[in-house]
Amino acid sequence: MEPVIAWHTEHVYFNQLLGVLLRQVDLFHGGGQPNYELMQDIISYLRDYSDRVHHPREDVAFARLALRCPDLKLVLARLEQEHRVIAQAGEALSELIQAVIGGAVIRRAELETAAATYLVYYGNHIAKEEEDVLARAAKELTVEDWEAVRNAVPVIRDPLFGRDTADRYRELRRQIALAT
Ligand SMILES: [Fe+2]
Ligand SMILES: [Fe+2]
Repeated sequence: MEPVIAWHTEHVYFNQLLGVLLRQVDLFHGGGQPNYELMQDIISYLRDYSDRVHHPREDVAFARLALRCPDLKLVLARLEQEHRVIAQAGEALSELIQAVIGGAVIRRAELETAAATYLVYYGNHIAKEEEDVLARAAKELTVEDWEAVRNAVPVIRDPLFGRDTADRYRELRRQIALAT
């Protein structure tokens, strides 16, 4: 697959997951009972795959692109910094949900704020990359650059959207199929 198409496809997947997460947060906001395990699976996946594979690869792509497109330097630096913010926000949200699953009483507003921060920040981040970066990367990056991007981290299979969904993500896969 063309690297930039694969890149875009991952964004589509991540947006689907954020959509499923948003529906759970809406349920919670409306006084209903969300599926906390499902929420936790979404964040676990995003932390396992996006924070460890997608974002490190992007960091390499951004560094290469910044050399070729000085006009993008600031945007790319911000996006790289956002990867760290997303990782932190994901960890904070994951800890809260884990606590709820474990039976702790968490203030409603605390969970809502953590979830909303994560959702909005992540959604805007992906939109910015789609808008400002992908087309330029497709135009400017060389075969060598893409190889460096691919080699940024050891190749691991995508445990949710890859050919074989890992057992732990089966229910999440089903929910995504229902939601899309
Ligand atoms: Fe990113
Ligand atoms: Fe991305």
